[in-house]
Amino acid sequence: MSDFVTPFWNWFVILISFISIVGCAVLLWTQNTPPPRTVDTTGHVWDETLEEYNHPLPKWWMWLFYITVIFSLVYCALYPTLGDFQGALGWSSTGQHAKEVAKVEGDTKPLFDKYLKTDLKALAADKEAMETGKRLYLTYCMQCHGADARGAKGFPNLADNDWQWGGEPAQIIETISNGRMGVMPPHAQLGAETIKDLANYVRSLSALPADSVRVAKGQEAFTSAGCVGCHGPDGKGMAAVGAPNLTDKVWLYGSSEATISETISKGRNNQMPAWKDFVGEAKVHVLAAYVLSLSAGPAGK
Ligand code: HEC
Ligand code: HEC
Repeated sequence: MSDFVTPFWNWFVILISFISIVGCAVLLWTQNTPPPRTVDTTGHVWDETLEEYNHPLPKWWMWLFYITVIFSLVYCALYPTLGDFQGALGWSSTGQHAKEVAKVEGDTKPLFDKYLKTDLKALAADKEAMETGKRLYLTYCMQCHGADARGAKGFPNLADNDWQWGGEPAQIIETISNGRMGVMPPHAQLGAETIKDLANYVRSLSALPADSVRVAKGQEAFTSAGCVGCHGPDGKGMAAVGAPNLTDKVWLYGSSEATISETISKGRNNQMPAWKDFVGEAKVHVLAAYVLSLSAGPAGK
C-alpha cells in the first residue's frame, strides 16, 4: 500500500536519497588525492608555534567511508527504504511483528487449548493459569475496570460477589465473549416529584436514610412506572437485562438522592465491549476464570 498521496513524493524521496549517497561518494573521490611530498599547513597557528597540518585522510579511513556508501546502496536495495519501494527481501516491520505474534500464538496454543477444556471453576483455582489470566486482564481490561478490578463510576467492580449480568460461569463467559449493553431508559416524563419519591424508595431498599412519606409514594410508583419489569418486584434486579440489584450496597453510579434521581430521569446507557473475535475463545475462557477467581477471593465474600 502506498503511503503517499501522489507519486511525486515517492520519487522525490528516492531522488533525494540517491543524490545524498552519490554526493558522499563524489566528495570522497575528490578528496582522494595522492599524499604530497611536503605537507602544507592550513595557516592556522596557535600558541605561537602550534600549526595545523593539512594531511589527506589515511587510505584505510577513506575505505571505511567507501564501505558505508556501498553498504547504504545494498541496504536500500534489500530493505524498504526508498519511497514506496518494498526492498528485495520483502521485509516489513508489520510482517516481522505478525511473524513473531504467530510464533508466540503457536507456542502457547497447546496450553490455551488445555485451559479451554478445563472447567471454569477448576481453572480459577489453577495458580499458573490465573497468573496468565492476570496478565491478560492487565492488558485488555484494566483501563476500564481498574488494575485492582474494583471498577469506577459506570464500570462495575469485578472483585466483588455482586453481578449485574450474572456470576455463573456461562454468564461470565457470555459477558466477556459477546459484550453487554446496559440500557436504563429515561423516565423524565414521571416529573421531578415522583422521581424524588422513587429515589427515596430506592435508597430505603438498601437501608440508606430516606424520607418515609416519599418512600411510601415511591414504592407505589416503582410498580406503576414499570421499574419492576426490569429490577423485579423486590428490586433485586434481573441478570437477563443487566438491571442491577437495588437492595445491596453496591452502586454502579452512586447512592446519593441526586445521583439516583439523575439515573431515573435521564436513564443510563453502558457498554461492555465484546472480546471473542479479538482475543479468541481460549483467552476469553482464561479471563472469565480470572474474574471468577477475583470474586471467590477474600474481597468477594
Ligand atoms: C471500554 C471499557 C471496558 C473494557 C476495556 C472492559 N470492560 Fe468489562 N465492562 C465495561 C462496562 C461499562 C460494563 C458494564 C456494562 C453494563 O453496565 O451493562 C462491563 C461489565 C463487565 C462484566 C459484568 C460484570 C457484572 O457485574 O455482571 C464483566 C464480567 C466484565 N466487564 C469483564 C471484563 C473483562 C474480563 C474485560 C477484559 C477482557 C473487560 N471487562 C474489559 C467496560 C469495559
Ligand atoms: C428496561 C429495563 C429497566 C427499567 C424499566 C428500569 N431500569 Fe433501572 N436500570 C436498568 C439497567 C439495565 C440498569 C443498569 C444500567 C447500566 O448498565 O449502566 C439500571 C440502573 C438503575 C439504577 C442505577 C443503580 C446503580 O447501581 O447505580 C437505578 C437507581 C435504577 N436503575 C432505578 C430504576 C427505577 C427507579 C426505575 C423505574 C422508574 C427503573 N430503574 C426502570 C434497567 C431498567
